[in-house]
Amino acid sequence: MDQIEYWNRVSEEKEFTTPFQETEFSRYVRKDARIADIGCGYGRTLDQLHRLGYTDLIGFDFSAGMIRRGKRLFPELDLRINDPSRIELPDNSVDAVILFAVLTCIPEDSDQEALLAEIRRILRPDGTLYVNDFLLNDDARNLQRYERFAEQYGCYGVFELPEGAVLRHFRQERILSLLHDFSVKEFEPLVFTTMNGNRSNGFYLIGTKKSTA
Ligand SMILES: C[S@@+](CC[C@H](N)C(=O)[O-])C[C@H]1O[C@@H](n2cnc3c(N)ncnc32)[C@H](O)[C@@H]1O
Repeated sequence: MDQIEYWNRVSEEKEFTTPFQETEFSRYVRKDARIADIGCGYGRTLDQLHRLGYTDLIGFDFSAGMIRRGKRLFPELDLRINDPSRIELPDNSVDAVILFAVLTCIPEDSDQEALLAEIRRILRPDGTLYVNDFLLNDDARNLQRYERFAEQYGCYGVFELPEGAVLRHFRQERILSLLHDFSVKEFEPLVFTTMNGNRSNGFYLIGTKKSTA
């Protein structure tokens, strides 16, 4: 199934759950910073930032359904539809980027790298990138699905949900290599509850764009 079609189909029913570390984020990002939330879904994190007093917020998602729901729930937010690897913002124009549970929706290495290149382009030097996402698990249910789909997708950790999503859980090394031109300031392994109510290993990472990148 086409993945934009999947996220459109579930856009009214899913509740996203990965946690926002407010105290840690506020150490790096000022209240008047320009912040872009990439793959913002229905805008729950931007709404949280708005309520905390952050004033210059913009969200992008490739699912028109998610953006429609977000505009209805939070009409004060600036939410826009983007092409999968294009963000309509000028170079070096934002102070911080949020990327929450988005890499998990992008199984292919080259597609992840294209999105990260776009994030680096819009983020100013020394700007902050705040990522959370899913890491590999070692319980029987996950091991079974990683093994079942490894050959089909040519990558261990990619799997399909019966409802149509193709998702990926990552080795920590893959995440660090993907973000190699960011200086990692914080990296914390966590345990998340997923959008389907299961438990999964995950992490949050706060990095800054190296000025040479
Ligand atoms: C699991 S949801 C998380 C949504 C939001 N970040 C949150 O934590 O509430 C993943 C979202 O990423 C979006 N997405 C996936 N790949 C994307 C891409 N290349 N560009 C923009 N949005 C994308 C999906 O449409 C979906 O809304």
